[in-house]
Amino acid sequence: TMILYDETQKIFTLNTRRSTTLLAIGENGLHSLYWGGTVSPEDFYPPQPVSHASFDPDIWRERDEYPIFNGRIFTEPCLIAGESGKKALFFKYQSHEVMDKRLSVVLKEEKMKLTLTLLYDLFEDFDIISRKVILKNDGEPINVSRLFSGICTLPELAEPNLRYLTGQWAGECQIRDVKLEPGVTVLQSRRGIPGPHFNPSFAMYENAEEETGEVWFGLLAYSGNWKISVQKTVFGNTQALAGRNDFDADEILGKGESLDTPAFYTGFSENGFGGMSRKLHDFQRTYFATRKNARPVLYNSWEATYFDVNIKSQMALAKKAADIGVELFVVDDGWFGRRNNDKAGLGDWTVNQEKFPNGLDELIDYVKGLGMEFGIWVEPEAVNPDSDLFHARPDWIYYIPDVEPMRARNQYVLDFSLPEVKEYVKDFLYKLISEHDIKFLKWDMNRPVTDVYTKSGGNGRRRRKHVETLYEIWAWLSETFPRVALESCSGGGGRVDLGILQWASEFWPSDNTDPYERLFIQEGFTQFYAPGTMTCWVTDTPDTAGRIGRSRTAYKFHSSMCGPLGIGVDISKLDDEILAEYKSHIEEYKQIRDTVQFGELYRLSSPRTGLGAVQYSDEKQIVALAFLHSQIFGRKIKPLRLRGLQPDRRYTLSDGRSFSGCTLMNKGIELNLSGDFDSCCLVFR
Ligand code: DGJ
Repeated sequence: TMILYDETQKIFTLNTRRSTTLLAIGENGLHSLYWGGTVSPEDFYPPQPVSHASFDPDIWRERDEYPIFNGRIFTEPCLIAGESGKKALFFKYQSHEVMDKRLSVVLKEEKMKLTLTLLYDLFEDFDIISRKVILKNDGEPINVSRLFSGICTLPELAEPNLRYLTGQWAGECQIRDVKLEPGVTVLQSRRGIPGPHFNPSFAMYENAEEETGEVWFGLLAYSGNWKISVQKTVFGNTQALAGRNDFDADEILGKGESLDTPAFYTGFSENGFGGMSRKLHDFQRTYFATRKNARPVLYNSWEATYFDVNIKSQMALAKKAADIGVELFVVDDGWFGRRNNDKAGLGDWTVNQEKFPNGLDELIDYVKGLGMEFGIWVEPEAVNPDSDLFHARPDWIYYIPDVEPMRARNQYVLDFSLPEVKEYVKDFLYKLISEHDIKFLKWDMNRPVTDVYTKSGGNGRRRRKHVETLYEIWAWLSETFPRVALESCSGGGGRVDLGILQWASEFWPSDNTDPYERLFIQEGFTQFYAPGTMTCWVTDTPDTAGRIGRSRTAYKFHSSMCGPLGIGVDISKLDDEILAEYKSHIEEYKQIRDTVQFGELYRLSSPRTGLGAVQYSDEKQIVALAFLHSQIFGRKIKPLRLRGLQPDRRYTLSDGRSFSGCTLMNKGIELNLSGDFDSCCLVFR
């Protein structure tokens, strides 16, 4: 059984396939005894109060499983509530319940009449546990200034390291590895969206590499302001707390009200970062909205025409797109209102009559006639000051009274906590999707949420409501239009998280579509998110004319074949010879896409080494994509060693050569790459 309770020792054992978590009931609720590779619970005993010296009392409290501020706790707490000077909350264990794959533990604060339920959900096959809590108030209204989802505490590691993703617009998901010293490292967003600067995910390890060593990892499923605090205490405890950001987030919890948290998923890998990623990818494909069938090859005209979309240009592009094998044609920004540039139109979700005099259906029918599906772009949270919507409803945006609200990309943010805003957005989406045959919706969000203001009681509820309304609308969309795939975009990778992945089938990871720079973004992205959610386009970046370097057609395609493939090139300008090349690459991709989107990913070699290589495997085939940065005279390119094959099975390349698995894994295959920015796609059957 996965969840056990030892009555005499008062210890809970949470077992997944290859990990154990041990929690003991103590005088302050729960105590974290252990988390890591499988152990036997009978070898553990309840915690003993430990002090370092009289100067350092109660250091054992550092391992509280859900630390609550009470005036006598020194490390980062998960819960802070009450008026200043009266924050002393003393929760005690009250009861617990074990259901199949869930443990719930109820803690009570008698004086303040607060109940805290800690919920643990086990995902056995993936070695993942989710943590969340519910705080219920039966007493007087109380100010909650922090309610995190939970904390995870590692075994004592001598030299723990932290891996996380950082970046900025057009340079998202860059991997950083840092050695943890005593202190707190905070990863967070205060921008209302998860943001491209940090992703709500992390990994901790001592001696891990791509395919070896132990990794403890975590992801917070939240699409608004979030915070992950990683701390190494001077007494050698390493832990990570995660939750909705408590920055500018006070909230009064009234009598009878409860507050819950997003889920904090934590997991353990004994096979390095590669093992971590494969567990997460599989987990996402099993429990999240990723589609069961491979994503269609799409065309998107954003980089080809920008705001200059109209029936003529789109039909011309659609014709060529269909010719080369595209299956989904997407109209991006610019189809509505007075949207001729980024200065106007957001909020006015009616078809622009000059661009589409006969409405959208003329284009949609044409696209369908060519055998493709149709998709469209929206940015429902935003409004331009130059729009009919803003003129009619200037008070629908976030603003601080008597202060000019901040403009970013010439737009304001709609206050999603207002019911009338929610209704407006649902209405326009309903009209758009029910009146037109739309199979794909790209939901964009191109600025931070600012100017959030609440007259009294703090901004917590309002900020939370924004995300809850977003989720409500996405849930409603998925239920009402189950055949419409939803993409989460935020000027690129500003909203990549497990919260929105409950409904999104894919992410737009970055506005950077340079095929070389994408390799780094893709390496970071796939640490935590499934390749099948990572949309990749071939575009005119850096240019299409060149047939050398990273603008080589094959190089661009190979880079974009690492996830669901899209085309963003101005294909109306391409000659027949290049179009034929595009067509054959798209054809090639269709042969491997199931493996890429649903297979197991092995990152064989990091692009940071000068040779990037990834492998995708399933029962049918092994796909290896390799990217040489630059050849160095006289230096041999190492054979590419594959992973996860069956040693005595034979694997055959399309040119007829065949190799046994052990040879491919131990000696590798010679790569025929040379010069600058060369690439190849090897398919073994
Ligand atoms: C940002 C997105 O990331 C782009 O793909 C494009 O949709 C633009 N917004 C449109 O304004």
